[in-house]
Amino acid sequence: MDERERAWRSEFPITDRFNYLNNCSLTPLHRRGRKAIERFASEWAEQGGRAWYDHWIGEYEALREDLAGVLGASVNEIAIEPNVSAGLVGIASTFDYARRPKVVVSDLDFPTDGHAFLAVADRGARVEFVRSPDRVRVPLELFERAVDDRTAAVCTGHVYFTTGWIQDIRALAQICHRRGAVLVVDAYQSIGAIPFDVASSGVDYLVGGTLKWLMGGPGIAFLYARGSVAERARPSAVGWWGVKEPFAFDVEHLDYGTGARRFEYGTPAVAAIYAARAGLELVAEIGIEKVRERHKLLSQRLVDGALDQGWTIRCPRDAEERTPIVTLEHPDPAGAVTALRAAGVICDNRPGLIRLSPHYFNTLEEMDRALALLEPLRVAHAVA
Ligand SMILES: Cc1ncc(COP(=O)(O)O)c(C=O)c1O
Repeated sequence: MDERERAWRSEFPITDRFNYLNNCSLTPLHRRGRKAIERFASEWAEQGGRAWYDHWIGEYEALREDLAGVLGASVNEIAIEPNVSAGLVGIASTFDYARRPKVVVSDLDFPTDGHAFLAVADRGARVEFVRSPDRVRVPLELFERAVDDRTAAVCTGHVYFTTGWIQDIRALAQICHRRGAVLVVDAYQSIGAIPFDVASSGVDYLVGGTLKWLMGGPGIAFLYARGSVAERARPSAVGWWGVKEPFAFDVEHLDYGTGARRFEYGTPAVAAIYAARAGLELVAEIGIEKVRERHKLLSQRLVDGALDQGWTIRCPRDAEERTPIVTLEHPDPAGAVTALRAAGVICDNRPGLIRLSPHYFNTLEEMDRALALLEPLRVAHAVA
């Protein structure tokens, strides 16, 4: 680690006490995020409601600009959301399912990607799930076969949350557009981990948030709607912040806001805006290309070490194909995660899987220490 890298690591006080490998769930709070939240608290304590006009609305719009910069979008293509689920509910509310009833989702997708569309079955939506043959990837041909002239949308992850596999989003967009369908991408697991330019991706809608790779904490998510798509959209899930003139307080008319703003709901969690902007600043300082290189280095050490120990992995072997999500099959993953926690490693479990996810601030030595603790857990379950 060079001096700058050490400085970035020291932004994360948790690294003094733990080997923190749960970043695809939540990156821990950094010093500058804490300072930013404290600034919010002072403004709130000292100014009360006046702080909306002196600080908070400005911070909110600055966050929109930050997010547009991260994605390569224009500011009018960005809506700020409380979470990804809220964004997807808004998107799912725009389709005419009587004309095109089918929505295609994969069985590896995060639950909310399916739920948002299952919930509009009474409006005619019918969700078809494509099934991963190896439980790691979903071949493009399966989407190609599922998408037809009656398909409203494909909604799927850019990176799958249990396998880290990176989908070819541009090819998916082409499959959708050939049939007149819309591509909705859940990019929660990709933005901040891999370089990505939304404008050239062909994506129509994209949702993501700040609590994972973007290091910005919970409470802020975003929705990208491509310019022309946003202007045509008529969501039925709406809120007063999503109209053209919210501060006109007109209860009698619904005049959709410009571009993606129409997907916004109500009063945002302001403390979260401050933390999110601090996280985005940190990511921008390091640079996503550098983050990606480090992710590959650290996660490959884990994958190679786990394979040497005889683990069955549920993520691609090749770092080019995945983010740093490393998943190992285990019959009692919750028990294994508790044992690792007692030994100073924080990771997570998903059904049948131990999930480890290093980030930029981790070290190779931490990967080796985690591997040394994992080995006896594998032996115990192999013997049992
Ligand atoms: C791919 C993916 N989508 C969505 C979510 C969660 O979305 P929400 O912001 O609605 O909690 C997660 C993880 O928390 C995720 O990994």
